[in-house]
Amino acid sequence: MTHSEHILIVDDDRQVREVLHQIFLGAGYKCRLAGDGREGVEVFREMKPPLTVTDLKMPIMGGYELLQQVREEEPDAAVIVLTGAADVKTAIASLKLGAYDFIMKPVNVDELLIAAERALERRNLLIERRQYQELLEVRVVEATRGLGKLYRELQDTYETTLEALGSALDTRDVGTESHSRRVHGYALATAREYGVPDADLTDLAHGVLLHDIGKIGIPDAILLKPGPLTPDEWQIMRRHPEIGKLLIEKIPFLRGAVPIVYSHHEKWDGTGYPLGLRAEEIPLGARIFMVVDAFDAITFDRPYSKAQPFDVAKAEIKRCASTHFDPSVVEAFFKVPEALLAEIRRKSLES
Ligand SMILES: [Fe+2]
Repeated sequence: MTHSEHILIVDDDRQVREVLHQIFLGAGYKCRLAGDGREGVEVFREMKPPLTVTDLKMPIMGGYELLQQVREEEPDAAVIVLTGAADVKTAIASLKLGAYDFIMKPVNVDELLIAAERALERRNLLIERRQYQELLEVRVVEATRGLGKLYRELQDTYETTLEALGSALDTRDVGTESHSRRVHGYALATAREYGVPDADLTDLAHGVLLHDIGKIGIPDAILLKPGPLTPDEWQIMRRHPEIGKLLIEKIPFLRGAVPIVYSHHEKWDGTGYPLGLRAEEIPLGARIFMVVDAFDAITFDRPYSKAQPFDVAKAEIKRCASTHFDPSVVEAFFKVPEALLAEIRRKSLES
């Protein structure tokens, strides 16, 4: 059996030291010798041997202290303690401190070599296991980072798609581009005043952006008709909430937008469509949308009506609270500072 590993032998008894030296040399190990704990620590620092075999009772510095310093220096260091019968207690204490084994004097050669081999094996195993653990942790961190990046890219992609879809709808409708961007801003501000939890704001935003997506299914001849619609044409036009619902309810990340898409023409007093829902039967997101959509319609130029000042719009909204609009949503909307409304409006024209 040949070993290339180094063993540090620490014993104050020169004879014992030599015997140990010969035993380990005979088994193929390379050895360094030290006559007490302090010298042992010095040699250890210099060569960091994988295994140290030390006597316990020595002048200047004993084996127990040596063990402490060696383990502090190198947590992976394997140490075997040699002890006389009188020192068994200290030997056991040294196990608690991280010694791999203790061996009673007088030393039995086989026992010593087996203990040394076992200690070195155990040390290697511990190191390998820790390295594997570290590698695993690095891999997990990398994988998580990769996933997070992918998720953010996906998120960005679909937000961009939604916005593009929103403006495309605006354009196709009546040329009120940037309408959905404004209504989106007004709706979020109102929702915050109303106390809608942050977690629900994404669904609200999607619903607002896509509220009229069902108009994709309305023929241009009706959608873009310059004059007033006939009753038959109105009937077709009024199907857009349902078409919108059918379009998006099967798309998992848009499912939260369905309540607004489907109910954005319901009115507080039950005179809206498609279901004629009343009051709180109407989803909150749709009730918020109704108010801010009306505000934008009044305060922004449309093909057939000139933009009105904010206070005119607010008076009109107040007049229709409890008929068209949820009065508590109106209240929340009135709490949104006018400076913020103006800022949202200005920004929607910029981009
Ligand atoms: Fe609509």
